[in-house]
Amino acid sequence: STAHPDVKERTLVAVKPDGVQRRLVGQIIQRFEQRGFKLVGLKMLQVSEDLLSQHYCQLTSKPFYPSLVDYMTSGPVVVMVWEGHNVVQSSRTMVGPTNPAAAPTGTVRGDFSIHVSRNVVHASDSLEGAQREIQLWFQGKDLLNWDCCDQSLTV
Ligand code: PPS
Repeated sequence: STAHPDVKERTLVAVKPDGVQRRLVGQIIQRFEQRGFKLVGLKMLQVSEDLLSQHYCQLTSKPFYPSLVDYMTSGPVVVMVWEGHNVVQSSRTMVGPTNPAAAPTGTVRGDFSIHVSRNVVHASDSLEGAQREIQLWFQGKDLLNWDCCDQSLTV
């Protein structure tokens, strides 16, 4: 069938150290699974300052950058690549605004956080950003294409 002809869109979502420490990884993954997105990459790692400076390359001169580094290196992160129709924008909506104080209940940040310095998750902000970040965090061989028997689940 040609029901879902669009090229698969992918985005990068990371559970930050506070999310790991607070045992929120499962609940965050569950939200993306139940929405219908497909997990194509997943790993846990202690982030290096070098990787962080590339990931946040637009922010290295910001006054909050040193505290952002301290936060993001305070423990392991869980990084994921999710695939599906409109996944970049939908993930941003699911995660909620950067500032948890502005995040609606029902979003990850609105449900699990109160301050921007501990906002639990990251999600790529654009298609271009997603492509850049996925290449930065993952090798191509570690992103898996898989199918399930019900193709309607894998738009
Ligand atoms: S900016 O200045 O408008 O470019 O920054 P903003 O888009 O609001 O945020 C970019 C990322 O920096 C994080 N951030 C912070 N982290 C720790 N402490 C403070 N004070 C802080 N302010 C902003 C913010 O969560 C964004 O990270 P990601 O991972 O993209 O959500």
